[in-house]
Amino acid sequence: MKIFMDTADVAELAAYVDWGVVWGVTTNPSLIAKTGRPQEEVIPKIAALVSGPVSAEVIATDAAGMVEEAKKLSAIAPNVVIKIPCTAEGLRATKVLAYLGIPTNVTLIFSLSQAMLAARAGATYVSPFIGRLDDIGEDGVKLVADIVAAFKLYQIETQVIAASIRSVKHVEEVMLTGCHIATIPTKVLAQMIKHELTDKGLAAFIADYEKSKKA
Ligand code: G3P
Repeated sequence: MKIFMDTADVAELAAYVDWGVVWGVTTNPSLIAKTGRPQEEVIPKIAALVSGPVSAEVIATDAAGMVEEAKKLSAIAPNVVIKIPCTAEGLRATKVLAYLGIPTNVTLIFSLSQAMLAARAGATYVSPFIGRLDDIGEDGVKLVADIVAAFKLYQIETQVIAASIRSVKHVEEVMLTGCHIATIPTKVLAQMIKHELTDKGLAAFIADYEKSKKA
């Protein structure tokens, strides 16, 4: 499973890129709004920090408008992927973008049917939203597992990005589904490296080293 960061915060991203584990990035209009800067300014900075895909979302809700926006966004950098909402117009846009060779990430996916339609329209990636499904009493991780299984069954090459991740538990559960990518918020990525026994063990090693120096 590859690791993406789900953030539009360039400084935060830069700090974690140094870990050597972040392959790509996903953004959305809400994450961009948090930066206080326009998407056209933020995406080039993010795209320069990682070598893998960087998802930038369209705002238009009609297919022609989405395609126009997608062409502009994809000209920003070669690793930009166009995030398209999973609607009928979104499918139409995805089909055109696939024909034009522009990679897409079909987002706001909440069912297996939506994932299959997006894949058949030519999506490069689909993004099922785990946390938002859990919020309404459904099982987000199960949806990821179902999509992975169905795509395997029909030899569909579209990659599955587990999105709307809220906890380390979510990350570890989707890891075992065989999903291709998890897009992880900064707070959760920071928690993933932590274990109290690591801290305790390291403190003991350092204390013992100090003791042995004095001996
Ligand atoms: O990548 C989209 C996803 O980040 C949405 O997450 O936490 O707003 O449901 P959330």
